[in-house]
Amino acid sequence: MKDILIKNYNERFKNSTAREVLAFFLKEFKNKIAFASSLGAEDQVLTHIIVSIDPSIKIFTLDTGRLFPETYELIEKTSNRFKINMEIYFPTTNHVEKMVKERGINLFYNSIENRKLCCNIRKIEPLHRALKGYEVWITGLRKEQSITRNNNALVELDENNHGLVKLNPLINWTEEQVWKYIEQYNIPYNKLHKEGFPSIGCQPCTRATEPGENIRTGRWWWEMPEYKECGLHQK
Ligand code: ADX
Ligand code: SF4
Repeated sequence: MKDILIKNYNERFKNSTAREVLAFFLKEFKNKIAFASSLGAEDQVLTHIIVSIDPSIKIFTLDTGRLFPETYELIEKTSNRFKINMEIYFPTTNHVEKMVKERGINLFYNSIENRKLCCNIRKIEPLHRALKGYEVWITGLRKEQSITRNNNALVELDENNHGLVKLNPLINWTEEQVWKYIEQYNIPYNKLHKEGFPSIGCQPCTRATEPGENIRTGRWWWEMPEYKECGLHQK
């Protein structure tokens, strides 16, 4: 049933702009739609569009406790610039304490299993809490970002998130389009983007890339490309 609805949405909006898509969904789902922002370049574009359509929409970020100082700075800057109150979700304290006690503070370097456990505790569980009671979540995913994202669509059924609808308004945007938009509207962005970090996650799991390398090469760089999803967008 939901599958058909999603197919129809994709067909209906296949030639629409991100703004047109968002205008429709924000009105249609009003209090049942939320935007997950990691403060990345794409997310900053989406914040700009969303706030200009409806500033009351819930915008949240998952603070894993391991973010870069530059990201915290940008949360503050973005909240001031757009006059919004970003909701910040933290991991559950006793889950983090147990994990660190049993496996160490930097457990993620030791195995994929450890890395996934950390992402689950620090990101996925808080994401589920943030989306409880919602029907649609908005993300800044783009196809171009990775081989794991080539097949993502504008509107998707998110099996990992209790069958919520996932809306990716920038799915077909290029990196160039994102930066053009940011410059055009003078939107604040993470300083690290200009220091060789095209994709920014947690500090211990993100490093700078060389020009010409894939956007996500610096994320979990010790793992093979096909494993490089934290679970937020796992198929
Ligand atoms: S990740 O899964 O590898 O971390 P990525 O950094 O590419 O994802 O971001 C893709 C999208 O996932 C973002 O545009 C945002 O919608 C969502 N996202 C990722 N990390 C977070 C976060 N910490 N808080 C909120 N949303 C996030
Ligand atoms: Fe943990 Fe690294 Fe995942 Fe962040 S990206 S939650 S530090 S494993």
